[in-house]
Amino acid sequence: MTGLLRTERLEAGYGTMQVLWGVDLNVSGNETVVLLGSNGAGKTTFMKCLMGLLPSRAGTVTFRGEEITGLTTRARVERGLSFMSELGIFPDLSVAENIDLGALFRPRADAKRRAAELFELFPVLKEKRRQAAGGLSGGQRKMLGIAKALAAEPKLLVMDEPSAGLSPLFVATVIRSLAECRAGGLSLLIAEQNVKFLELGDRVFTMEGGRVHFGGTPAEIQADDGLRRAYFGLGQDDHVRA
Ligand SMILES: Nc1ncnc2c1ncn2[C@@H]1O[C@H](COP(=O)(O)OP(=O)(O)OP(=O)(O)O)[C@@H](O)[C@H]1O
Ligand SMILES: [Mg+2]
Repeated sequence: MTGLLRTERLEAGYGTMQVLWGVDLNVSGNETVVLLGSNGAGKTTFMKCLMGLLPSRAGTVTFRGEEITGLTTRARVERGLSFMSELGIFPDLSVAENIDLGALFRPRADAKRRAAELFELFPVLKEKRRQAAGGLSGGQRKMLGIAKALAAEPKLLVMDEPSAGLSPLFVATVIRSLAECRAGGLSLLIAEQNVKFLELGDRVFTMEGGRVHFGGTPAEIQADDGLRRAYFGLGQDDHVRA
């Protein structure tokens, strides 16, 4: 696996408050990395920094061998980074228009071909392509968020809590869709608190207080009693069922 994304000693914050205190993390090609961390740990801040939505104060971000630390969000998207935030879709626009927006920086012909592929991957979105996105269910909206992010044909998809607000059934559907994208060669960086997402990860990192503390395989996380207790509220005899 080759290096795709690397952050070194990344620092960021808001006003006088520093949130990220030197984050070192890397994602390889064809790899899925899950970032676990409790509320306020700095996961969203880190992702905003990766996308250029929040300036970093120190450290570097390197993507596909190029330092992108000072680049605009658009320049990062054009290089193959895509972001699915929790509030990523426009409710007044139709499903198809939302997907079009995701491909805003792509040549028109590529965007059309990609939209057709995405409708194959998410048939429910095809059915509702002319309806307002605001009329979708929570799970369908999440699908649209993923489809919109994938419309840019990213090399790396950065996702902020894809399971937020979803029922267990929809969580399973989202995981299945992501597994398909992954099989197609997409790399993923996913911030999550839902233990189900561990099954997607090649490696898992924990983030607390704006620092990355632990990196290992999902099996290593599950074998560590302290981590199991901290992140999944599980005792010694409970086992994570992926
Ligand atoms: N726009 C903002 N302005 C000021 N402080 C912020 C802002 N966004 C986040 N923070 C603060 O930065 C810290 C990290 O927040 P962040 O949203 O990155 O955490 P998180 O790990 O994504 O948490 P969660 O799991 O709740 O989404 C928190 O103390 C939060 O209050
Ligand atoms: Mg967050």
